[in-house]
Amino acid sequence: MHRAAAWRHAEETIRAVLERFAFEEIRTPVVEPLALIARGMGGSTDIVTKEMFSFERGKTHYVLRPELTAPVMRAYLQHHMGQRPGEQRFFYFGPCFRAERPQKGRYRQFHQYGAEIIGTNDARADAEIIACTVEIYRALGLKNTKLRINTLGDAASRARYSAVLREYFAPMKDKLSAASQKRLQSNPLRILDTKLDYERDLVRNAPQLMTHVDEESLNHYEAVKAYLKRVGIDFAEDPFLVRGLDYYSRTAFEVESFDIGAQSALAGGGRYDRLAEAIGSKQAVPAVGFAAGMERLLLAMEAQDVSWPAAAPLDAFLIGLGEAAKAEVFALAFQLRRDGLHVVHGLHNRSMKAQMRTAHRLRARYCIIIGDNELASRQAQVKDMDQGTQESVPFDALPRILFSHRS
Ligand code: HAM
Repeated sequence: MHRAAAWRHAEETIRAVLERFAFEEIRTPVVEPLALIARGMGGSTDIVTKEMFSFERGKTHYVLRPELTAPVMRAYLQHHMGQRPGEQRFFYFGPCFRAERPQKGRYRQFHQYGAEIIGTNDARADAEIIACTVEIYRALGLKNTKLRINTLGDAASRARYSAVLREYFAPMKDKLSAASQKRLQSNPLRILDTKLDYERDLVRNAPQLMTHVDEESLNHYEAVKAYLKRVGIDFAEDPFLVRGLDYYSRTAFEVESFDIGAQSALAGGGRYDRLAEAIGSKQAVPAVGFAAGMERLLLAMEAQDVSWPAAAPLDAFLIGLGEAAKAEVFALAFQLRRDGLHVVHGLHNRSMKAQMRTAHRLRARYCIIIGDNELASRQAQVKDMDQGTQESVPFDALPRILFSHRS
């Protein structure tokens, strides 16, 4: 399987969709201050407590970025992009780093693409981000995915609900895993998205977040759902979807694939109206976005045999016989490439027969052979590899012949 070709096809398709949604590409550094990531993502999240590649230079701690949302918000604030008219729409592609135990679909270095709409709390922004996330899978022909959505409410309703959950889980503390016991204090909502079966049974009967969500967030959620229905996007509501990062409020969502094993989350995102203040902004900046894993997307494409266009076919394979002919072929190949043709010449001193075999293997459309006689007459032997025919062609007529088969 040509992973790089699949990657390129996926990336081109993704860029095309993101650009149709009018997102502008943003590139930010891989190395960021630890404080930015810790404040942005939340000091008690798994990523910040256990999964950072961090190092110290002078008195400052740095990390290899584990995601791009906090870095993009940092860039937005630092470069005063809020002063531009209207909301700002960014997309990105890039490597991220998390010190997790590697397994299928989970890597220490992986790649994310994603998009953020910064500067509006309109429910249409949430719906547009979700719609764009799934539109990319549709454009790639990927099936067997599921979109789950939820609302987390505002900060006050999350705090209220955290207290309710602490009360609910307290009597069964001993039955919880060590990680969940810790979360009981730091962030009890995280217990809800446990992957452990015996904990899921306890979670099933827990009080639901929805009953503690503030009215404005509920209205916002209803509006987001209505917009999604309006454009025919299927979703399932999941009251236990909480996401692993602290910066979310209101909308949260995930897209899952059923074809890639345990690490099934293809993409995730949501609204993060408090992130800007958490990283030092004096004003609240409402925002919503998503990010998706490139490697997991490729795994899902492979599992479903999603196809991508073949690489451009080879127009010609050039063979030079003798030192002078080889030099001529070298120069000719260079000129043909400059003309826009896709050609190769053998760099080994192998027999003509061996080189013809290579030309077949590379599926070259033509084979161009130049020896001493051809050099003297400045006419090459051109073999049509499809028809099996051969003719003499003046050197300067070669581009015309090679281009003619393309039309
Ligand atoms: P996240 O859910 O942590 O969200 O990551 C998004 C996606 O990155 C996941 O759904 C998964 O496909 C991929 N991913 C995460 N960790 C790994 C890994 N170790 N190996 C391979 N793939 C991985 C965020 O990062 C948020 N910044 C999303 C967001 C954007 N929220 C608002 N805007």
